[in-house]
Amino acid sequence: MKLSFIGCGNMGGALARRLAGAGHEVMVSARHEDKAKAKAEECGKNSKAGSVPEAVAFGDVIFLAVPYGEISSAIKSAGDLKGKVLVDITNALTPDFSGLAIGFTDSAAEQVARLAPVAKVVKAFNTVFAQVVANPKFAEGKPSAFVASDHADAKEKVMRLASDIGFESLDAGPLKNARLLEPLGMMNIFLGYVQGLGADKIAFRVMRR
Ligand SMILES: NC(=O)c1ccc[n+]([C@@H]2O[C@H](COP(=O)([O-])OP(=O)(O)OC[C@H]3O[C@@H](n4cnc5c(N)ncnc54)[C@H](OP(=O)(O)O)[C@@H]3O)[C@@H](O)[C@H]2O)c1
Repeated sequence: MKLSFIGCGNMGGALARRLAGAGHEVMVSARHEDKAKAKAEECGKNSKAGSVPEAVAFGDVIFLAVPYGEISSAIKSAGDLKGKVLVDITNALTPDFSGLAIGFTDSAAEQVARLAPVAKVVKAFNTVFAQVVANPKFAEGKPSAFVASDHADAKEKVMRLASDIGFESLDAGPLKNARLLEPLGMMNIFLGYVQGLGADKIAFRVMRR
């Protein structure tokens, strides 16, 4: 698939590198084009850098990998998102990272869908750390990738991408279930950083029998 990234820091960069490594064509973008160029070089042969609108025009699937506070400005600078799959990976944290900025009756993903009504918005990857994207191998098995969307075709594409990079994809229902996934992302952050379990050492896995 042709994949683009608006934002290629810790998380966007890790996803871009793994997905390029899995054979997908990747274009990364950021606020600073020099940083995007450096990231594309790190990602290897299937990747290149461009401006945000160039990346959006290139990709069929666009990852919105910016801090929550930047979603509005990033979407405004994106250009034409009509028909694009837009993957919201954000965790809507307060500026001091101590808690959720929204919840219960709304989610960052639903805000993204309101800001980009012509795109097919998917919530995914907010419950895993960048370090786990970089290396998802655990003795217990594959970490879970929860994928929520109101668009079945878009959800299926993102589930396939998560499987391509070593996750067990789970259909997490409609986009409004991002209201459940975003607190789970906050719990991941709490366990990894506040409880000290380590961002490279933990991931959620739904066990089945
Ligand atoms: N890190 C994780 O483990 C993790 C896990 C799950 C979810 N997430 C979520 O993923 C998102 C990104 O986190 P991160 O850790 O990757 O952050 P980060 O390392 O700070 O990277 C942020 C990226 O967004 C770009 N950016 C910021 N504002 C932008 C704008 N208006 N337009 C275009 N690009 C913009 C930055 O570009 P410049 O460098 O040029 O400013 C940078 O490439 C956050 O919402 C976070 O909650 C992160």
